[in-house]
Amino acid sequence: MFAATLFRNALRVLIPLAVASTFYLYLYPIFLGCAFPLPQPLEQTEPNTAAAFQDTWRQHVLPSSSHAAPFRLLALGDPQLEGDTSIRNYNRESFPHLTWAFRHLAFKTDQPSLRKRLRQVSHDLVDFWFDDIPDTAESIRKRIDLFGNDFYLAHIYRTLRWWARPTHVTVLGDLLGSQWIREPEFNRRSWRFWNRSFKGGERVPDEVAGYPGEEYELAGLLGVEDANATAWRKRIINVAGNHDVGYAGDLTVERLERFERVFGKAAYELRFELPITNPMANATIYDDERNPDSNRLVPELRIVNVNNMNLDTPAADQSLQDKTYAFVNDVINTASAVEFLGHFTLVLTHIPLYKAEGICVDAPFFSFHNGGGVKEQNLLSADASRGFLEGIFGLNGDPNAPGQGRGRRGVVLNGHDHEGCDTYHYINQTVEGDERQWRATRWHSARADGLPGKSEVPGLREITVRSMMGGFGGNAGLLSVWFDEKDWEWRFEFANCALGTQYFWWFVHFLDLITLAVLAVYFVLQIAGFNNESAPVATASNSSVKSKKAQESVPVGNGDTKKP
Ligand SMILES: *[C@@H]1O[C@H](CO)[C@@H](O)[C@H](O)[C@H]1NC(C)=O
Ligand SMILES: *[C@@H]1O[C@H](CO)[C@@H](O)[C@H](O)[C@H]1NC(C)=O
Ligand SMILES: *[C@@H]1O[C@H](CO)[C@@H](O)[C@H](O)[C@H]1NC(C)=O
Repeated sequence: MFAATLFRNALRVLIPLAVASTFYLYLYPIFLGCAFPLPQPLEQTEPNTAAAFQDTWRQHVLPSSSHAAPFRLLALGDPQLEGDTSIRNYNRESFPHLTWAFRHLAFKTDQPSLRKRLRQVSHDLVDFWFDDIPDTAESIRKRIDLFGNDFYLAHIYRTLRWWARPTHVTVLGDLLGSQWIREPEFNRRSWRFWNRSFKGGERVPDEVAGYPGEEYELAGLLGVEDANATAWRKRIINVAGNHDVGYAGDLTVERLERFERVFGKAAYELRFELPITNPMANATIYDDERNPDSNRLVPELRIVNVNNMNLDTPAADQSLQDKTYAFVNDVINTASAVEFLGHFTLVLTHIPLYKAEGICVDAPFFSFHNGGGVKEQNLLSADASRGFLEGIFGLNGDPNAPGQGRGRRGVVLNGHDHEGCDTYHYINQTVEGDERQWRATRWHSARADGLPGKSEVPGLREITVRSMMGGFGGNAGLLSVWFDEKDWEWRFEFANCALGTQYFWWFVHFLDLITLAVLAVYFVLQIAGFNNESAPVATASNSSVKSKKAQESVPVGNGDTKKP
């Protein structure tokens, strides 16, 4: 009877708490107001998050009334699936000292005397208590942690895919937590990646992942709901990171091959076109017969996935590095001339571009293996970064360069720096001599200073997406890209959506489990004969209400001695 009351009162607290927190966890993007930014006029600098949120609702309820951008990329940074390398007692017995103690006692070891044997046994027993037990406890904790982490990441991917309706998904490198793992562990983590954390996702097929060339097949049309669009919603554009294939000094053919086999190619391009249905606008597009003087190209979004792991020197495998250089050169050589409008280049890569210390959390840093070879780096070198800015994007500090050095529209997305960072790279063309250099600043201050779009100051935004790991708040990036028919240019905006640490995820599931357990016990108590006594239980609670009322009218009495 007492137990039933206790359980019932516990359930009164547990059930609302469990229901509320479960609702919150499973609908977190709604509670947080997460949405892909909406296309907005150029004059408007601050994104309208409320309108974007309402539009996402519309997509769920009445898709035809939505004004969402035709390209919406869910960008996830550094999941870094860990595994055996982070479990202390992996592949060895849990209580080795206890085993040794038994072996000494059973005379299965060589010891000259009984005294030494007993001394050895007591040593082993001490180590059992102070080494084995903490070690095993920590290993068990880590295993549970890893198991939960897979589902925590899965929760982010699944929930945002459902709520925010991305058209494309990318994971910006460091899918795995270590490049040193052997084949069996690599296969286990691959299994966990595809069958748990990114369940429902698919690798980009090799025949779709194109090599840059003059002639290319389109990867799809944007803003058109066809079978291709459905296929792209499932695909995950995986970028190779240092923990997947290694830095330049560790990058071998074997590491690259196993990555590409499971996660997709490490370097390719995808070209998407946007149909222009408005006949007036369509008629302004360049055509070598009908419209040879136009500088308007068919709107195209070009995604370039670059493995920038081996751009810097020295590299372990020169031929792999040469291939990467050739790839970047081919990307540059097959890009549209800078004078033309309508193309947008989205670079997906892992290591951020060079920037001076103090702009982002990671400062420039390099370390090398003894025999040469890049062992670690925080950022690309300044030279490699210029390859992106001046090569792929065609930006130039010289105002007499083609297109006044203003380059192509686009953005760079990457990971690596788990903290995330939003920056703007620019070069001041009016400065003379050595002082005319690439500089970087935080995006919000660049915008406050009116840098983007300023004549004589070409520039490019780079977004380093904060990691989706629990320690960094389970973040996800939402990039929208849309086309401005008036100016014949693509525009984009970016937003973050962070679930919160993994502790909250654990807390909610624990709470649910406890609530279910208490509920089960309560029902068992009810069924197991306590039914008859349920009437007295009700009277008991009634009588307690009564006695409280009694207390009100008769303040002194009923043991209420604390009152003055
Ligand atoms: C995922 O699971 C399926 C079915 O068990 C299996 O065939 C597939 O190989 C797994 N994927 C990976 C990457 O291990
Ligand atoms: C422009 O119109 C022509 C003729 O209808 C069509 O074939 C073409 O695909 C259109 N271009 C774009 C970019 O939609
Ligand atoms: C560019 O350089 C000129 C001349 O040195 C200077 O007046 C101007 O403020 C600079 N612009 C920016 C955006 O730094």
